[in-house]
Amino acid sequence: MLKSSAANHIIWHSATVTKPDRHRLNRHKSCVLWFTGLSGSGKSTLANAVQKRLHELEKRTYVLDGDNIRHGLSKGLGFSPEDRKENIRRIGEVSKLFVDAGIITLTAFISPYREDRDMARQLLDPDEFIEIYVKCPLEECERRDPKGLYQKARNGEIPEFTGISSPYEEPQYPDLVIDSGQLTIEQSVEKVVQYLYAISAI
Ligand code: ADX
Repeated sequence: MLKSSAANHIIWHSATVTKPDRHRLNRHKSCVLWFTGLSGSGKSTLANAVQKRLHELEKRTYVLDGDNIRHGLSKGLGFSPEDRKENIRRIGEVSKLFVDAGIITLTAFISPYREDRDMARQLLDPDEFIEIYVKCPLEECERRDPKGLYQKARNGEIPEFTGISSPYEEPQYPDLVIDSGQLTIEQSVEKVVQYLYAISAI
C-alpha cells in the first residue's frame, strides 16, 4: 500500500491511443463477460467455448480463469472472504485494462460474494459489464466433481469450500442465466452469443 503522501504524487497520464480508437481498429466494442457460479458448474468450459465462437467471428478475446490466475497473479491468495475479495478486486482491475485495450474479456471465477462482483461491475461502464450466472445445482456439481474437490471438502480436507462450508450468493439481477445443468454446451454458447448480438455488444 502506498502512503497517502506518495499516492498524492502519482499523476494520471492520458493515453494518446484511446479505447474508441481501438474499437475502430478492431471493428467491435469491448466488454467483460463475467461468468459466476459454483465450482464444477461449467464456467471455464463455457467461457472457453464462447471465446472460440467469438474468435471464429473475428472478435478479439481473452479468458481469465480462476484456477490459472491463482497460479500467477493471485498466487498466495487463499479462500477466506478477504482473500477472495482481493482476488476479485485484481481480476476486476485487470478486466478493466483489457476492456480498455479493446478486448472482449471472459472471466471465470466463482466470485461468490455479491459485494465483490458489484465492486468489479463498478469499475466499468454499465454496458461493459455483463454478469452471466452459470447456474447448476450443488448436487449436480458435486456429482460431476471433476477435480475431486467436493469429496475432499466433505471429508474435511479443504476448509471454506464454496457450497459446502463457505457461501455462494446467487446473483439477484444477472444479465443472463445459463442453466448448465439443463443445456448442452452448444446451446449455452448459442444463448450467450445471441444475447451479445441482441444488446449490440458484438
Ligand atoms: S473465488 O472464490 O476467489 O472466485 P476462484 O474462482 O478464483 O475462487 O477459484 C476457484 C477454484 O479453486 C475452484 O474451481 C477449485 O478448483 C479451487 N479451490 C480450491 N480450494 C477452494 C475452496 N476452498 N473453495 C472453492 N474453490 C476452491
